Amino acid sequence: MEGIEKVLKFLDEAQTYYLATVDGDQPRVRPFGTALLFDGRLYIQTGKVKSVSKQIAANPKVEICAFKGGKWLRIAGELVNDDNRDVKVAMLEKMPSLKGMYDPDDGNMQMLYLKNAEATFSSFTEAPETITF
Ligand SMILES: Cc1cc2nc3c(=O)[nH]c(=O)nc-3n(C[C@H](O)[C@H](O)[C@H](O)COP(=O)(O)O)c2cc1C
Repeated sequence: MEGIEKVLKFLDEAQTYYLATVDGDQPRVRPFGTALLFDGRLYIQTGKVKSVSKQIAANPKVEICAFKGGKWLRIAGELVNDDNRDVKVAMLEKMPSLKGMYDPDDGNMQMLYLKNAEATFSSFTEAPETITF
């Protein structure tokens, strides 16, 4: 399995991860659950109307943290907006429950992929493993 696939698998199995953004000098963090591998990129999904989206537009640097089964994953990187309709369709196919809230053509649904990402798996018992993508 490629490194980025391992990261996706962990996020999917953890189900919930926490996405931290920067809002001026104030960190903001909230639960997220969307994750998609498309064209070799790791995407997350949000709504353009949300504060989180506005924070990312002002400063794309983010950090993600997820925990599952004694291991945790931290991903530091930058998020890039992608308006490709196919990515939105693929996200809604993977997570059909989003269809009640989002549509590819609603002007709100936003897909963002990670770039310059450094993902580190840690635990109290094993050496950390870092993957970049
Ligand atoms: C388990 C869980 C998963 C969530 N996943 C997402 C997600 O993938 N994308 C999203 O935009 N909001 C998601 N939310 C909702 C956001 O946490 C919520 O809208 C939050 O207020 C957004 O941050 P903001 O208020 O700083 O804009 C999720 C909420 C929960 C409880």
